[in-house]
Amino acid sequence: MKLIDGKAIAQKIQLETLASVELLKSQGHVPGLAVVLIGEDPASRAYVRSKDRMCQELGMHSEKFELPATTSQADLLALVARLNANPAIHGILVQSPPPPHIDERAIVEAIDPRKDVDGFHPVNVAKVALGDPDAFVPCTPLGCQRLLLEAGVETAGAHAVVLGRSMIVGKPMALLLMQKGPGGDATVTVAHSRTRDLPGVCRSADILIAAIGRPEFVTADFVREGAVVIDVGINRVADPGSPKGSKLVGDVAFAEVAPKCRAITPVPGGVGPMTIAMLMHNTVLACQRLTR
Ligand code: GUN
Repeated sequence: MKLIDGKAIAQKIQLETLASVELLKSQGHVPGLAVVLIGEDPASRAYVRSKDRMCQELGMHSEKFELPATTSQADLLALVARLNANPAIHGILVQSPPPPHIDERAIVEAIDPRKDVDGFHPVNVAKVALGDPDAFVPCTPLGCQRLLLEAGVETAGAHAVVLGRSMIVGKPMALLLMQKGPGGDATVTVAHSRTRDLPGVCRSADILIAAIGRPEFVTADFVREGAVVIDVGINRVADPGSPKGSKLVGDVAFAEVAPKCRAITPVPGGVGPMTIAMLMHNTVLACQRLTR
């Protein structure tokens, strides 16, 4: 069993990004990312802070907006309009999910698609579906595909099962794996909570992408001997034995699944660091495209 070290691969990508940032700076441009958080969700706060910190480490410009949960739709739209018009900002990310009174779709649609580094705007969703190289691809599936490429996992002709159908991970992941070219050319099945014989469908996978958002949902009976497993889940669960009283687990029951795998990503240290690395990559792309 090979452990796919997402942290190490992410660091390699950050070095590439750093080189691109320095080239842009030599041309008079500093890539800038705006990250917007509405409300106090602790996990979302932690993500937003690590995005902000990573920008600083790479010498990029970053602006962080931590807004109260009571922020109105109109105020949020006004902020997005200001960021769209701000030439120092090349990427805009509104942390999902927002509070229930916010219409997330309307917010995402207000973002200039050229600054939509999350790849959530309908224009970018369509471009990903079309295989348009100008698309912004959502960071988590892009990171998963890159992990497979870097780990030398052959996707061409493989049966990839994507467990989960979200707009953030499952759907774009399936599109990427079925595209022509490196990291693609797979035979893709999208499975979810309503799939009949879910363990059996997952067992038919050469490559299993677990993105169902349930702690340790994928048990040994879901996994064929010799499969490659990518665990997208980040779930905080109670852990009375630890000083914090909680710990992070993936969507995969790692201890029982790992011995069956050819390769598997850990949680933490697998997909998580890749998502941030791809966000920085997308922000540099946005800056390159907006300034050329
Ligand atoms: N919430 C969970 N993942 C993501 C992401 O990639 N982008 C945003 N904006 N929100 C998220």
